[in-house]
Amino acid sequence: MTAAAVPLTVAVAGIEEPTSDVRTLRLVSATSAPLSPFAPGSNIEVQCGERRNAYSLIGDPRDTSQYAISVLRVADGSGGSRFLHDEVRRGDLLTISPPKSAFAPPAAARHHLLIAAGIGVTPFLSYARAFARTGASYELHYVHRARQDPHAGLLGLPGAAVRRYVGRESLAASLPELLDAAGVGTHLSVCGPPAMIDEVLDLARTRGWPEHRLHSERFVGVEAPAGEPFTARLARSGQTIAIPSGTSLLDAVRGAGVDLPYLCRQGVCGECKVRVLAGTPAHHDLHLTSAQKAAGDLVMACVSRCEGDELELDL
Ligand code: FES
Repeated sequence: MTAAAVPLTVAVAGIEEPTSDVRTLRLVSATSAPLSPFAPGSNIEVQCGERRNAYSLIGDPRDTSQYAISVLRVADGSGGSRFLHDEVRRGDLLTISPPKSAFAPPAAARHHLLIAAGIGVTPFLSYARAFARTGASYELHYVHRARQDPHAGLLGLPGAAVRRYVGRESLAASLPELLDAAGVGTHLSVCGPPAMIDEVLDLARTRGWPEHRLHSERFVGVEAPAGEPFTARLARSGQTIAIPSGTSLLDAVRGAGVDLPYLCRQGVCGECKVRVLAGTPAHHDLHLTSAQKAAGDLVMACVSRCEGDELELDL
């Protein structure tokens, strides 16, 4: 869990398997501490054996009787999803973090144009439930594989304006028209694999959408490159740490006893962000914007490295 989060113990109250590779878990408090409401688009970190994975909450943000998450089995992932698929049974206890607002709907939007692919639809399920109550205007465009639509039942919400697409190409064919038809005050939010997000956002930019109306959450990260060795100087603790090729800055710093938080280890979540005081980072993450990368004063320690011999960090 991140430094400030007090872990919660929950019991698995229900398990559904809507498709062969998706498991939906219903979690209830296993202690006298009640669950808290959450902002739409929030996620929780779940302790999955040795790993911690983040999952979007898919239920009603005001429902404090239970949390629900949908877990896609990632065969070549770090093992967190396999643990939740293969090891967890009804009645088991799990440790989770409190909900963290990671991808809240833009408050300024007059209309929400939501585009999701695959398991990337999960944050929008809590949006849709919140919008059904507040009456916020939205449309959801959801790409999934043929006969692999694990959330078909969940999308039948009152007022839901949902259009489904089988395969990425069918969305790509409709996308220019969707983007051009959006009215004043529409904000675009996209969630799914990075390539799909980049495709949608790049097209929106070329069709005149300003950055402040574009929002995204990436579900698949990057592999850290082995890279050249370098040295990290920690300004606050005074330590000098050697980072060999094949070891991440995050692992080397944590190995030296510094409690640097992390979550995805794939350059996506932003948990391992560190301020750079001197030296030039070699950015490999998907979290920082191009402007932040160019400024060079932040580094994502899980995947990024150094352009030269040394980075001085605010640690
Ligand atoms: S741990 Fe998620 S970006 Fe580094």
